[in-house]
Amino acid sequence: MRRPVLAANWKLHKTQAETRAFLEKFKPLVAQSSHCEIVVCPPFTSLGAAVAAARDSNIAIGAQDVFWEKKGAYTGEVTAAMLAEAGCQHVIVGHSERRQYFHETDGEVSRKLLAVLSAGLTPIVCVGETLQEREAKATEAVLARQFLGACNALTTTQFSRIIVAYEPVWAIGTGQTATPELAATAHRFLRQQADERFGAPAAQELRILYGGSVKPDNVKSLMAQREIDGGLVGGASLEPESFAAIVNF
Ligand code: PGA
Repeated sequence: MRRPVLAANWKLHKTQAETRAFLEKFKPLVAQSSHCEIVVCPPFTSLGAAVAAARDSNIAIGAQDVFWEKKGAYTGEVTAAMLAEAGCQHVIVGHSERRQYFHETDGEVSRKLLAVLSAGLTPIVCVGETLQEREAKATEAVLARQFLGACNALTTTQFSRIIVAYEPVWAIGTGQTATPELAATAHRFLRQQADERFGAPAAQELRILYGGSVKPDNVKSLMAQREIDGGLVGGASLEPESFAAIVNF
């Protein structure tokens, strides 16, 4: 049985005060939600406030990015060990916005993934095709390239600790959700990739989240797909009531 994960990706939203206010309202709304893991990923500067506000709750805090080196002259960067020390349990790696706006490559995503694992944290590795790639019927080639590009260097033990998020780029922030069937097809393909590289037991246990315009009114039909093990939620995770409705699908 794969335990569902509902994760909030706040992107460039919420100050420390806004983070505290969100969690104060959100905590009681999900206090009984033992059917899933709940993760909230604020910007770096709000991590400390989030960790403090979520203490003794069923909410884990994650970061949205990380750098792979352990120390050195890398102005502006943050290590996985620093995130662990700050109280993070998860780190999003390879989000399409990082790939698109900050030119992150598959090789860099792989190094970040290894850094997160060696700090004892759980990576949420994002993959997904653009509209152009889907229209060119390149979805599977892109997913295979991104999946293997990120994961090929892992041992099976390391692989068993990761979470994958399938996020078609054309569905992110557009209100245009992938149909549950279309998402499930992509998830099945990713699980097959995992099976070929890491074997059936690891593939069966891998949790694959769907991301891209997940909302309270479509989460149920997405989660009804056996292949979909949770969601990575952007816009609809910014209001406590809305994200709680998604968690309690
Ligand atoms: P969205 O973002 O829910 O606003 O589409 C999802 C994501 O980018 O993780």
